[in-house]
Amino acid sequence: MNTHIMKKAHFLFTLLALFALGSSAQVKKATNPQQAKMDSFIKNLMAKMTIDEKIGQLNLVTGGEATTGSAVSTDVESKIAKGNVGGIFSLTTPQKIRKAQEIAMKSRLKIPLIFGQDVIHGYKTTFPIPLALAASWDMPLIQKTARVAATEASADGLNWTFSPMVDIARDARWGRIAEGSGEDTFLGSEIAKVMVKGYQGDDLTKVNTIMACVKHFALYGAAEGGRDYNTTDMSLDRMYNDYLPPYKAALDAGAGSIMVSFNDINGVPATANKWLLTDLLRKQWDFKGFVVSDYTGVSELIEHGLGDLKTVSALSLKAGNDMDMVSEGFLTTLKKSLQDGKVTQAEIDRACRLILEAKYKLGLFDDPFKYCNDERAKNEILTPANIQFARETATKTFVLLKNQNQVLPLKKSGTIALVGPLANSKANMPGTWSVNADMEIVPSLLEGIKNVAGNNVKILHSLGANLTADATLQAHSTMFGREIPRDNRSEEELIKEAVENAKKADVVVAALGESSEMSGESSSRTDLGIPAVQQRLLQALVKTGKPVVLVLFAGRPMTLVWENENVPAILNVWFGGIQAGNGIADVLFGHVNPSGKLPVTFPQNVGQLPLYYAHKNTGRPLEDGKWFQKFRSNYLDVSNDPLYPFGFGLSYTTFTYGDLKLNSNTLKPGQKITASITVSNTGKYAGEEVVQLYIRDMVGSSTRPVKLLKGFQKISLQPGESKTVSFNIDEEILKFYNSELKFVAEAGDFKAFVGPNVRDVKTADFKLVK
Ligand code: BGC
Repeated sequence: MNTHIMKKAHFLFTLLALFALGSSAQVKKATNPQQAKMDSFIKNLMAKMTIDEKIGQLNLVTGGEATTGSAVSTDVESKIAKGNVGGIFSLTTPQKIRKAQEIAMKSRLKIPLIFGQDVIHGYKTTFPIPLALAASWDMPLIQKTARVAATEASADGLNWTFSPMVDIARDARWGRIAEGSGEDTFLGSEIAKVMVKGYQGDDLTKVNTIMACVKHFALYGAAEGGRDYNTTDMSLDRMYNDYLPPYKAALDAGAGSIMVSFNDINGVPATANKWLLTDLLRKQWDFKGFVVSDYTGVSELIEHGLGDLKTVSALSLKAGNDMDMVSEGFLTTLKKSLQDGKVTQAEIDRACRLILEAKYKLGLFDDPFKYCNDERAKNEILTPANIQFARETATKTFVLLKNQNQVLPLKKSGTIALVGPLANSKANMPGTWSVNADMEIVPSLLEGIKNVAGNNVKILHSLGANLTADATLQAHSTMFGREIPRDNRSEEELIKEAVENAKKADVVVAALGESSEMSGESSSRTDLGIPAVQQRLLQALVKTGKPVVLVLFAGRPMTLVWENENVPAILNVWFGGIQAGNGIADVLFGHVNPSGKLPVTFPQNVGQLPLYYAHKNTGRPLEDGKWFQKFRSNYLDVSNDPLYPFGFGLSYTTFTYGDLKLNSNTLKPGQKITASITVSNTGKYAGEEVVQLYIRDMVGSSTRPVKLLKGFQKISLQPGESKTVSFNIDEEILKFYNSELKFVAEAGDFKAFVGPNVRDVKTADFKLVK
């Protein structure tokens, strides 16, 4: 493309974008008295600040407790004393935080530090990984996990968390799919809101609330090929309709800060992307909080090819980034850039003001030590109630993928052969990003089963296989203290021992799958099967003829075609936090009936990726029920179907759905129609069911997805009980960003679908008449 066309394209891009999302040529709101008080406080403070002190505020350093890159901050104490640090992350406990804050209080202007950490799925009371939490489809539950996390983190000195991670992810190769809510825009946005509310409560000055930091802005989950940190190239249609809404939802819920993603977006890395950080974030969305780069995001612009440290630091600030995490590019170059006219005083002031405002909003200027309370640290972290809540939460996230002949729940008698490299590991249980979890108190699955099964059950435990045949791959997959010991016996010997145990047992429980560090940051994979050596073990176990229950550990959708065909029961347990061992046992023995539903599509094989339910129809869709037709959109060697569809998950009981009824087939602006369906529990157990509403816009000015989630309700039913579930459909939920990026609902035909997952739905038609 020549420069002229590029400029034109960029202009058009910006112009279109300016009319989009929230179309906020917003009217300035009158300042309230609290705002006026803050403004004048910050103005007075900034009037006293030197340029060095202002730039110091933009510097975020690491305390070194958990780092995700090779760069580590140095001379932290002397920098704080000189006013060269705005905040510290990965430093915990009231004692250490008090010590750092005391140094800040001796600096010339006594500006308090902000203390952050990756409190991602709980603090010391670690809950299931975010993808698992999403599988609960339980918004009050998820909000409460964030509330508990905030209470514990703030009791340990923190006031800022790098969460929620709201990146939509549709390529299961990407390891960080584990850290978000999966593939769906609607579900992801709902979760984004409750997470922010859980962390921040309704008052950030309260001592048990912490500031949320939405991440990673933006489109990080669409990394090409699912390879971490890779480039994103995306149409505006997809951005505005699918990927951006969860960030916006989190900000609208009041999130005080946002973290920039590592990736390149359409040719400009997010960390230097003015369109993203200023035009979209500030001008269209009217975001008033502060922006922080990701770990060394600023200096990584050098590798992206945008210039030297001084150049990229200036670019990043000018684009709209306020705080530099760990690169120290801002600290070491911005003053010179100001002298050289490469950045303006106003740009530095903007960033400094926003960071000071965050500290003000947290109440740190009133009391810099408000989070340093040893009593709270002693009494409010890992309380029995929190631990019990972690156990209950875990049970709500597991997804029963198969249960032939009701192998599950297990009886509390007889002999169980418990097999697999993940059966007796504590370190593997909590999941990626659980830096605060104390592995000593984490029960392994073996311990959990012993705790729940009681004395009438005999357990024969054996390893059966190493995590992977290749020791190097296992080492890369068990980093950060998440070791899974290797057994040096041969594969055959290990399998033989397990098979012998299986033969003596009534049922086999095989704890297999990924280690927790096989997903998460920098843990992308191209093979999404259970590692081959474990699969061979599983095959040998199935061959014994004993009923086998696969307890599947996974941080992402896995490919399980063989398992689905040959293993009678599969319970996907993701990574369930510090109480996963007990929680899994609660479900295996039927104390809790599983109710999780997949927040991501499980593919048949990796070649289908990216695979997601809300795809477009194409001009040559397959006919219903066909899996290959020449000159249609399909593959020769595999059907287009997923292995398990989005929203799927079984229960120990059965639910049947009546017909979908609409109270009218015509919807008018300002009115609503009601879609109702009766759901009955036709099985033997009480259970919970997530009833899902999808909509298809049949004819539009742009192509629309074949189905879009627009509502869900989690209900609980006793055996024999029925409930009628109703959803309101109004014009608002039919809106989308059209090709001019206007948010509109277009008159015409629609279909509504309601069911237990995106595939097995009842349908009704209606029209929007304008
Ligand atoms: C990750 C972020 C995280 C940051 C700080 C980065 O590598 O991408 O999600 O918040 O490190 O730990």
